[in-house]
Amino acid sequence: MKVKEQVLLILRTNAGEYISGEEMANRLFVSRNAVWKAIQNLRKDGFEINAVTNKGYCINDSGFTKYRINALLGGSAQNCKIKYLDTVGSTNTILRELAEQGAEEKTVCIANHQTDGRGRHGRKFYSPPDSGIYMSILLRPDFGAENAAFLTAAAAVAAVRAIRKSTGQPAQIKWVNDILCDGKKICGILTEAVSDFESGTLQYAVVGLGINVTRPKGGFPSELEDIASSLYSDEAVLNDVRCAVAAEVLNSFFEIYDKCDKKKLIKEYKSYSAVIGKRIKIISADKEIPATAVDIDGNARLIARADNGKQYTLSSGEISVKFR
Ligand code: BTN
Repeated sequence: MKVKEQVLLILRTNAGEYISGEEMANRLFVSRNAVWKAIQNLRKDGFEINAVTNKGYCINDSGFTKYRINALLGGSAQNCKIKYLDTVGSTNTILRELAEQGAEEKTVCIANHQTDGRGRHGRKFYSPPDSGIYMSILLRPDFGAENAAFLTAAAAVAAVRAIRKSTGQPAQIKWVNDILCDGKKICGILTEAVSDFESGTLQYAVVGLGINVTRPKGGFPSELEDIASSLYSDEAVLNDVRCAVAAEVLNSFFEIYDKCDKKKLIKEYKSYSAVIGKRIKIISADKEIPATAVDIDGNARLIARADNGKQYTLSSGEISVKFR
């Protein structure tokens, strides 16, 4: 066990009490400086550790940390290697860099705050501290790039299951990859894939999920107020929920990914759909086409019937949905 893990064990065993750096150093046969460094690293991992002169250190073990998330993992998600960072530009970008350096499948990057959170179509994803889950998953699937939609669908289903199980909120999927509660977006998914030109197979894919758990301090920026929301409307920091939802997303995602049962996945994806049977507008570069969403096919494409009778099969892109 590393000094960091040993220090964590001592602090956790004495949670709520102060224990001096000297005592920990003596118990672990290391220098006080080594203990101090371990404390700094644990803080970087998301732990809140109070330090009081002449008393020592005391841990508040209720943070949004990889240790708490790890403890909630089951099935093959237990093999995830979580890299937790307090503040990053974008977890997808970090994970893409790690992928290029050879990081393994199931490496997961989780952050408390993103300064440059990225969304689809070059948009930004608002990612303030202490309120959301910003998480990216690295995959090295042995299927072709044309199956990347399967990963996004798996992530959407995993997010819905996790939200429903951990919070009881009736989350739904707005095709293609937004998760809604009460008609407002509470989660977005960005899948980025790099494929091998020669073989047409995926070199790797990074699936990023941003979930708004609580209302950000000071609220959402005005341009998002009408379209974005969070699982809880208060501004209190709910780390228990953040850890539970993050872990459940990973548990469900890897259950679906390992089985690779596309038919079953699409059936479940459809059962959570917020768009089937709804009036929609298909948004293309220069126009908006009024239509009705009819179905989602076996490749997660949306089948829509335009008011002029023409049928569309959409594999990506934008639709707007009227909910009321
Ligand atoms: C969208 O709604 O357009 C997709 C948003 C995806 C946001 C997540 S947050 C974690 C990961 N890192 C990013 O920069 N983006 C994704």
